[in-house]
Amino acid sequence: MKKILVIHGPNLNLLGKREVDIYGTITIDNINKELKKIAKSRNVNLTIMQSNHEGEIVEAIGESTKKFDAIVINPAAYTHTSVAIRDAVSAVKVPVVEVHLSNIYSREEFRHTSLIAPVAKGQISGFGKMSYVLGLEAVIGLLDK
Ligand code: DQA
Repeated sequence: MKKILVIHGPNLNLLGKREVDIYGTITIDNINKELKKIAKSRNVNLTIMQSNHEGEIVEAIGESTKKFDAIVINPAAYTHTSVAIRDAVSAVKVPVVEVHLSNIYSREEFRHTSLIAPVAKGQISGFGKMSYVLGLEAVIGLLDK
């Protein structure tokens, strides 16, 4: 059975209460439940983590080679700042798909740059919860190939 790691970055634990005009009322639990349902129906094993700490995310990516076949990550604010997360993604052979709830290109200019996208397999941005669903489907598709 293929193993996929989902990483939620900083402040995504606050979804549902945080900037609801942008992110809506969806919670991280809602997202995780939906992803688990899909994983079950597609016969993949899902591990989900959330961290507000850059180093923890770097470590999870670095260790993923031994444990996972693919990663779906919403690096949240670290998307725009973290050379360390980018280098971790680039260091591992595991395919990584970057997802964002909001369309980062329609927001403030500082969000238009993703340091992760150039080293990821691809990026999905702007579809709310569906971004995660599409991201998961994308990595399952990659692994099926
Ligand atoms: C986000 C977009 C980022 O710019 C922001 O810092 C987040 C969430 C998104 O999912 O839309 O925390 O990654």
